[in-house]
Amino acid sequence: MKQQYLFSFSLLLLFLHSTETFAQSPAAAPVQAPPVAPVLAPPAPPAQSPTGVQVAASPGPLDVVKILGKASHFTVFVRLLKSTQVDTELFLQLNNTNNGATIFAPSDGAFSGLKVGTLNSLTDGDKIELVKFHIVPTFISTSQFQTVSNPVRTLAGAGNRFALNVTTGGNLVNITTGLTNTTISGTVYTDSRLAIYQVSRVLLPLDMFTPKPPSPAPSPAPAPEKPKKAPIVESPVAPKDLSGAVSLIVHYHVMLGFTAVGMVTALLSF
Ligand SMILES: *[C@@H]1O[C@H](CO)[C@@H](O)[C@H](O)[C@H]1NC(C)=O
Ligand SMILES: *[C@@H]1O[C@H](CO)[C@@H](O)[C@H](O)[C@H]1NC(C)=O
Ligand SMILES: *[C@@H]1O[C@H](CO)[C@@H](O)[C@H](O)[C@H]1NC(C)=O
Ligand SMILES: *[C@@H]1O[C@H](CO)[C@@H](O)[C@H](O)[C@H]1NC(C)=O
Repeated sequence: MKQQYLFSFSLLLLFLHSTETFAQSPAAAPVQAPPVAPVLAPPAPPAQSPTGVQVAASPGPLDVVKILGKASHFTVFVRLLKSTQVDTELFLQLNNTNNGATIFAPSDGAFSGLKVGTLNSLTDGDKIELVKFHIVPTFISTSQFQTVSNPVRTLAGAGNRFALNVTTGGNLVNITTGLTNTTISGTVYTDSRLAIYQVSRVLLPLDMFTPKPPSPAPSPAPAPEKPKKAPIVESPVAPKDLSGAVSLIVHYHVMLGFTAVGMVTALLSF
């Protein structure tokens, strides 16, 4: 009779143990890797006011505004560089990285070749984008144009809507954006880090001067992938968890029955 009591007591312990695991396992199951937060470091804002930076920008050779100012026929481009404060960004690019920069500087003649009112119709954001589109954040020498890979990435961004393609033939370096075809018409400045080339037309990015497409061909392509992946990952996991829980519950009830019977028997035996 004492043995029976011990038996039912051990059943009780088992039962307690199983309820404990039952309580733990569902809690453990839903734990997943936390979603990865986007870690896009925002570009550091200019630490100083533009005037402060320009005072610090004494190293003459890399002061783009100064170089273009001396050339005297880039007054519109210089004005845009300053008003958009891209000159500050350019200074930091040249001062704080070893990549250098390449600038396609449209002459005043290039700006007067634009349709009347083009510049005035642009928002401040568009003007920044337009100026940045003329700056490549790496140094490209004239000979390197022959091997450059298209599209060339500018400060304005990447992708077909910011495509800037360079092709060379003979002594000509041609540039096309999809809207503008032009040719480099001279070298304003070059050292091993900074190259400034004159272009005879303002480079218009497709992104700014054509309507944005709704979402074309690319969107149907990734769509079928999602439902394909989802069942593979999710369906086997869910039934597995469920069956585990169900078996635990069955276990629990059987245990409870056994324990009750055992306890009654034990009580009766005493
Ligand atoms: C320019 O570069 C030098 C050396 O890397 C650095 O000490 C200085 O702070 C930089 N100036 C600006 C305005 O970023
Ligand atoms: C460059 O453009 C000129 C006309 O502007 C054209 O005659 C020439 O074929 C072009 N060259 C290349 C390599 O695209
Ligand atoms: C630029 O070059 C890329 C790669 O060769 C090409 O896919 C794209 O259509 C070109 N864009 C323009 C505007 O020429
Ligand atoms: C630019 O040149 C290409 C061929 O080199 C031509 O197909 C296209 O029509 C030209 N675009 C403009 C806006 O002149």
